[in-house]
Amino acid sequence: MQKIVIIGAGNMGGAMIKGFLRKTNGALTITAKTKQTLDTFVGKYPTITVDLDNAHAVRGADMVILAVKPWFIEPVIAEILPNLNDACLVSVAANVRHERIDVYAMPNIAAEIGESMTFIEETPKTDCIEKAMAFFETLGEVQVVPERQMGAGMMMAGCGIAYVMRYIRAMMEGGVEMGLYPRQAQEIAMQTMRGAVELLAHTGDHPEAAIDKVTTPGGVTIKGLNELDHAGFNSAVIRSLKAGLK
Ligand SMILES: NC(=O)c1ccc[n+]([C@@H]2O[C@H](COP(=O)([O-])OP(=O)(O)OC[C@H]3O[C@@H](n4cnc5c(N)ncnc54)[C@H](OP(=O)(O)O)[C@@H]3O)[C@@H](O)[C@H]2O)c1
Repeated sequence: MQKIVIIGAGNMGGAMIKGFLRKTNGALTITAKTKQTLDTFVGKYPTITVDLDNAHAVRGADMVILAVKPWFIEPVIAEILPNLNDACLVSVAANVRHERIDVYAMPNIAAEIGESMTFIEETPKTDCIEKAMAFFETLGEVQVVPERQMGAGMMMAGCGIAYVMRYIRAMMEGGVEMGLYPRQAQEIAMQTMRGAVELLAHTGDHPEAAIDKVTTPGGVTIKGLNELDHAGFNSAVIRSLKAGLK
């Protein structure tokens, strides 16, 4: 059995740990800065080994995944390097490059429920790509893309999930203003979003073709759509996606 180590068990590391163990009963070694974080996993997952010592944790590893904040990547690599040997080193840290990292991956927090959209950067290190793919495929959809597309992937999926949630919240605020309870408005917004996604996935339609089916000439939907345009909705979405690119 492969030894997989995840360094960092916060928002992203935690989502990967939970997603992986939801789908498989594979073994995982996880580390964090504090015992308090590791304790939240102990007892819940029988195949987990926890360790506060990164250098010790990576001994004999086949793949090590770095899920610490970008500014900790350099010191953590320095710490584990003596014991890393030929383990594949994967990083999910946004916008950080390091010569020892074999694979750059960009998942999102829906990994926790097996619904991540993960980007893996192409590299000639096929052995490490295969190992990374096998892992990230347990967490949702995976696309292997050239370096030039990693930024777009990061913004659309890694960050984009937050923008989608902001849209849901905006819908809720509109719903509450029109007289709904917040929880009720959230249910409606989520089911409407789910319906839109499933419909496009099922029909293969372009969004605009589906929109045409909703818009009666002179009706209420087109009034709202035009209001979105007047307020610069498309432009705001595009600008939000481009804002984090270097
Ligand atoms: N959040 C996202 O949606 C997302 C999406 C894609 C990529 N990423 C990337 O994922 C990385 C982590 O982000 P995050 O949001 O998960 O951060 P986070 O919630 O702050 O989690 C960071 C984790 O790293 C641990 N840690 C800190 N120093 C450590 C060390 N020296 N050794 C071992 N573990 C250490 C922390 O331990 P304690 O809990 O004990 O403090 C914590 O569990 C970032 O590089 C980010 O760019 C995040």
